[in-house]
Amino acid sequence: MELVLPSTVYRDSFIEGIRELKDAAMTSTTRNYGNLSIPDLEADFDLFVEKERGHAEGKNLPVGYVPQSDFWLVDGNKYIGHAGIRHELNEHLISIGGHIGYSIRPGKRGKGYGNKILELALPKAKELGIDRVLLTCDETNIASRKIIERNGGFLENQVPNPETGIDKLRFWIDIA
Ligand SMILES: CC(C)(COP(=O)(O)OP(=O)(O)OC[C@H]1O[C@@H](n2cnc3c(N)ncnc32)[C@H](O)[C@@H]1OP(=O)(O)O)[C@@H](O)C(=O)NCCC(=O)NCCS
Repeated sequence: MELVLPSTVYRDSFIEGIRELKDAAMTSTTRNYGNLSIPDLEADFDLFVEKERGHAEGKNLPVGYVPQSDFWLVDGNKYIGHAGIRHELNEHLISIGGHIGYSIRPGKRGKGYGNKILELALPKAKELGIDRVLLTCDETNIASRKIIERNGGFLENQVPNPETGIDKLRFWIDIA
């Protein structure tokens, strides 16, 4: 199991994973990939991969987004999940979003992949020069809270999130 850069090698299982997301109940953190168009992915997967890779240079991102390195968790030749590491924190990220977002495709949840994706993302954050990683999760997201705590997260505080009405928990992990 490893974290890799987005690659056309995983085309079929990636699209399968996006189908699972669309069939499952949406959560705020699956919104990005959950909104992908399957016909567009099928028509030009190379272009999608190229755009994903451009995020690290600040390309192809919505206005106000900071550069972000995207990685895919893969097991053998299968796509399992996605982690996005933001290179810096803007005002929104420092209170709500944090440095790292991750998600596991619905068909592979509850098997330990969530713990693994964060474990593997932390050294990638370190390589990007981040020594203190901010992680946030909805107060109601028990699985994500466990993942953060298992990976050494210390709770700083709980803050309101006016966008959803669900408080965010803010954790720090020192990787210096
Ligand atoms: C949160 C998410 C990444 C968890 O992935 P996962 O692969 O199911 O996680 P794991 O199997 O590694 O489980 C992590 C821990 O949560 C627990 N857990 C898993 N699903 C759970 C659930 N529905 N309710 C309560 N606990 C749960 C596991 O028992 C495990 O605890 P342990 O380490 O003490 O044994 C996944 O549900 C997901 O992608 N959700 C949507 C996106 C998201 O919320 N991302 C997090 C952003 S903050």
